[in-house]
Amino acid sequence: MADALKIGIAGLGTVGASLVRIINQRSHELAVTCGRPVRVVAVSARDRTKDRGIDLTGIEWFAGPVDMAQKADIDVFVELMGGAEGAANASVRAALARGLHVVTANKALLAYHGVEFAAMAEEKGALLNFEAAVAGGIPVIKALRESLTGNTVSRVYGIMNGTCNYILTRMEKEGLSFAECLKEAQRLGYAEADPAFDIEGNDTAHKLAILTTLAFGNKIAADDIYIEGITNISIDDIRAAADLGYRIKLLGVAQRTESGIEQRVHPTMVPVQSVIAQVDGVTNAVAIESDILGELLMVGPGAGGNATASAVLGDIADIAKSQPGAQRVPVLGHPAATLQPYRKAQIQSHEGGYFIRLTVEDRIGVFASVAAHMAENHISLESIVQHSKEYLSHPAQQTIILVTHATMEDSVRKAVASIKTEEYLIGEPQVIRIERPKEDN
Ligand code: NAP
Ligand code: HSE
Repeated sequence: MADALKIGIAGLGTVGASLVRIINQRSHELAVTCGRPVRVVAVSARDRTKDRGIDLTGIEWFAGPVDMAQKADIDVFVELMGGAEGAANASVRAALARGLHVVTANKALLAYHGVEFAAMAEEKGALLNFEAAVAGGIPVIKALRESLTGNTVSRVYGIMNGTCNYILTRMEKEGLSFAECLKEAQRLGYAEADPAFDIEGNDTAHKLAILTTLAFGNKIAADDIYIEGITNISIDDIRAAADLGYRIKLLGVAQRTESGIEQRVHPTMVPVQSVIAQVDGVTNAVAIESDILGELLMVGPGAGGNATASAVLGDIADIAKSQPGAQRVPVLGHPAATLQPYRKAQIQSHEGGYFIRLTVEDRIGVFASVAAHMAENHISLESIVQHSKEYLSHPAQQTIILVTHATMEDSVRKAVASIKTEEYLIGEPQVIRIERPKEDN
């Protein structure tokens, strides 16, 4: 049998500790499938005294991950710390500069430095693998990077944040508060170290930026994504969506349009009968629409120690099986030097259906006025309903819910802005975009 693949792991939290545990438990099977043993020989984390429930006997401890990347006797540097800058950035940079293979689950790092690191890896003939960075255990990177070669992708979209999907599902099914659900997601190890990245949509945006590059061959453009998180979604929205035959999911969507590539992350109403609407809890789903294959929908665990460690392990196994000096698949699907400048389509030119929920004073003429604002902005309505008071606590208020046919975002913004000048409006209007899977179009 060939020499062992020696790995160093920086970060022994939810993912890192699961990875060490699995490699310890599955060492025999791994050696057989990879054709060589896979051995953890070095680790680094902040607190050496912390009980992580894993056996680190015989493994060299490094106080600093950069030190480990520069000096440890390893073939693969596995980065599981998180963050676009700081220790993660410096240690991955050091590992690639040394020509080590790198595996990371860090989407923030790749969203901001992926092109530069891909170029470094390609120059050194090293592998930079990151399956766990997007949609947890779902092999979506491999699908886009390798399996769909030759296809022209038109749209990639999906549920890419387990924490948000977990929160929305439990709010809807169990009537729990947002705060309770988030706390539980943190306890289960799904959330980022700073959960604002999850609930404000940035984590989904980081993942989407990576998928967009793999799908469309552009430079990663994480700062060009329109982002809305789920903090503004109330149980009233969830109930109103259900009444209309929709469920609310936080989606990341990237699509080719005539004016460029549209990248957006926002709470989205999806038809209740669609497959994506049925994806509950921490589960993620990613749909890829392409010309040769058609629609590919991948569903699976999106976060958590084991799901993520499974993807990291797959990346390590690919390295164990790779031949030194062999032709490499480009890190981002296309050689880093050939990635095209990103051409951004503005969110104002997005065309789709919209759900608009207004709280208004309960008096004559309001309904007609709202309809008139829509007509003035050339918005065609699928439905407009003056709702019973079941969503409201105040007897002098009414809810008006509108669902539009496909229309331009710019028109919706103008209509909502003009409604906001009306005295009958109470509070902020709620606007949620509707996304239809290909099966429905
Ligand atoms: P975590 O539980 O917060 O663990 C982070 C680990 O990194 C800890 O062991 C911490 O050390 C170590 N660390 C942080 N800063 C360090 C530094 N400056 N020097 C040395 N060690 C440092 O995070 P996680 O949930 O495992 O996530 C790790 C990475 O995987 C992140 O990029 C995350 O986005 C990504 N990811 C996570 C999931 C998930 O479900 N959790 C899924 C997919 C991807 P101490 O333990 O000593 O504090
Ligand atoms: N915090 C992330 C999530 C981890 O909830 O999806 C997986 O990337």
